[in-house]
Amino acid sequence: MYSSKITGLGYYVPENVVTNNDLTTFMETSDEWIQERTGIKERRWIDPKTDDTTATMGAKAAKIAIERAGLTKNDIDFIVFATLSPDMYFPGGGVQIQDLLEMPTIGALDVRNQCSGFIYALSVADQFIKTGMYKNILVIGSENHSGALDKSTRGRNVSVIFGDGAGAAILSRCAEEGKGILSSHLHSEGKHAKELVLEGPATQRWVPEIIENNDDSDLSYYPYMNGQFVFKHAVSRFSEAIIEALQANNLQKEDIDMLIPHQANLRIAQYIQKKFNLSDKQVFNNIMKYGNTTAASVIIALTEAWEQGKIKDNDLVILAAFGSGFTWGSVILRW
Ligand code: ACO
Repeated sequence: MYSSKITGLGYYVPENVVTNNDLTTFMETSDEWIQERTGIKERRWIDPKTDDTTATMGAKAAKIAIERAGLTKNDIDFIVFATLSPDMYFPGGGVQIQDLLEMPTIGALDVRNQCSGFIYALSVADQFIKTGMYKNILVIGSENHSGALDKSTRGRNVSVIFGDGAGAAILSRCAEEGKGILSSHLHSEGKHAKELVLEGPATQRWVPEIIENNDDSDLSYYPYMNGQFVFKHAVSRFSEAIIEALQANNLQKEDIDMLIPHQANLRIAQYIQKKFNLSDKQVFNNIMKYGNTTAASVIIALTEAWEQGKIKDNDLVILAAFGSGFTWGSVILRW
């Protein structure tokens, strides 16, 4: 069996910065409420006048990651693309990346696991590398939330949280023993699907039906979130995912050099940090700048932490996420 290692990282966020105060111009909210409950100060929302979309942002992040891995687009064997906000209902974003980057006709797989999307995508890529089928896989998480949020006061509990952006990693075959991805752990609990959901358009909530019911009672075309329910599940599932990753590798919480939690809410990350007795140096957060970018959040945070020199050779890194589905999971790596 081979092992797999991240050899390139990149991210891209839209230029357009939307501060909490900016939001108060079109909904009833406040900088104080948002910062106190979520830690978010600002987020990036695509300016519709630019060419930024879920796919083009993913392609921009991917280009950086490929270059930093010292590879060219022709060295990539496979694409795994995670998003909950694809440009089109079908086909998925993976084939758009293959086209935008003018890559050979390699396979492209789409992952639909929301905030856990990048964890799932990385785990899938890891399996292809471990079996020897592929050598270099491009793994992307990208989201355009701003195009589908209810930006009125009615939708404020959801819309203030989410931001746009993309991140990418190159996962490559690795000859060094004990390096790279040590294990990945994936979970789901579909009975809670409707606690964090965007129902339509989809085959159970098709466009004519939405148009017909297009009054104040039909909000199925906007995301719905039962915030407190999600919060409670998030804190316990995050913890479980971290413990599971440590136990599977006979490691202790003291061994963690860097925890990159999905950036859902700074309060969740702080709760986890306290629970595991981790120092500020051992946990990386950037939700303050970007909000929750769902499938892009872990990979943008990982890239920034690495760019800032906070992840060094041989460090033990845990990536953990929880989100809609419910889905959750972790990936543990020796850098
Ligand atoms: N500005 C001002 N007031 C607001 C806002 C806002 N943006 N949003 C809600 N409020 C009000 C509510 O109307 C309510 O007022 P009321 O008491 O008069 O009725 C009050 O604030 C409290 O509302 P709650 O929804 O109970 O607020 P809560 O403390 O739960 O915080 C939050 C909301 C931040 C969303 C929190 O529940 C949370 O972070 N949940 C978890 C989110 C998460 O982890 N998501 C998973 C990933 S996302 C994915 O997978 C796609």
